[in-house]
Amino acid sequence: MTLLDGKHVSEELKKQIATEAAEMLEKTGRKPHLVAVLVGNDGGSETYVASKMRNCEKVGFKSSLVRYDDTVTEAALLSKIEELNKDSSVDGFIVQLPLPKHIDPEKVTEAIDYRKDVDGFHPINLGRMQRNLPCFLPATPFGIMLMLQFYGIETAGKNCVVIGRSNIVGSPMSILMARNANPGNATVTLTHSRTQNLKEICQKADIIIAAIGKKNFVTADMVKEGAVVIDVGMNRETSDKTKSGYKLYGDVDFDNVAPKCAYITPVPGGVGLMTIVSLLRNTLSAAKKEFY
Ligand code: GUN
Repeated sequence: MTLLDGKHVSEELKKQIATEAAEMLEKTGRKPHLVAVLVGNDGGSETYVASKMRNCEKVGFKSSLVRYDDTVTEAALLSKIEELNKDSSVDGFIVQLPLPKHIDPEKVTEAIDYRKDVDGFHPINLGRMQRNLPCFLPATPFGIMLMLQFYGIETAGKNCVVIGRSNIVGSPMSILMARNANPGNATVTLTHSRTQNLKEICQKADIIIAAIGKKNFVTADMVKEGAVVIDVGMNRETSDKTKSGYKLYGDVDFDNVAPKCAYITPVPGGVGLMTIVSLLRNTLSAAKKEFY
């Protein structure tokens, strides 16, 4: 079993990004600039956004944080988005999800200029992704593709089962794995809460990508010998007191599944770190106007 080491891969890819950012600074006198908009104080979102900002600094980007109380109106948020769309000093920006219930995430996503949509959530970017055109790819699926590529894991012709059909992970992941590209060219089954016989479907999988948000959901009896298992789960348990006040669990019963696998990602230290690298890569692409 080989551990897919998100720490190692992300550090390697960040070195490359830092080199390109330094070249850009040398040539143009400016750094790539990412803005994150954070509404409210959800514990997970706070941690993720802080990490995104910290990583920007590490690779030589400029980063800015715009914070709102969770009582902010949808109109005020949309007006800020309009301002960021027009601000030529901003290369890319993200609005951290989830948003409070009174704000429509679809409206927010569509309000972002697709040329600055470094989360890759705008329908134009998703449509271009599906058609294999240059675009910002959603960070987590993109990070998983970078991980597969780094380890040279063959995906063409493989049975790939994606568990979970969320807009930000499962659904775009299934499109990327099925695309005529490398990595890609897999035979993809996208499973969800209404799927029947999930266990039998997973048993046929060469690659399992678990993005369901339930601790220990993927058990050893669901996984065939020699499978590749990618765990996207970020399940926080506050009852397990650690220094940071919570412990992170994936969607996979790692201890029992890992011995059967050819490759597996740990949680933490796997996909999460790759997600941030993808965001950095997209921000650099935005600054270089690689796509639009
Ligand atoms: N919430 C969970 N993952 C993400 C992400 O990749 N981007 C944003 N904006 N919000 C998230």
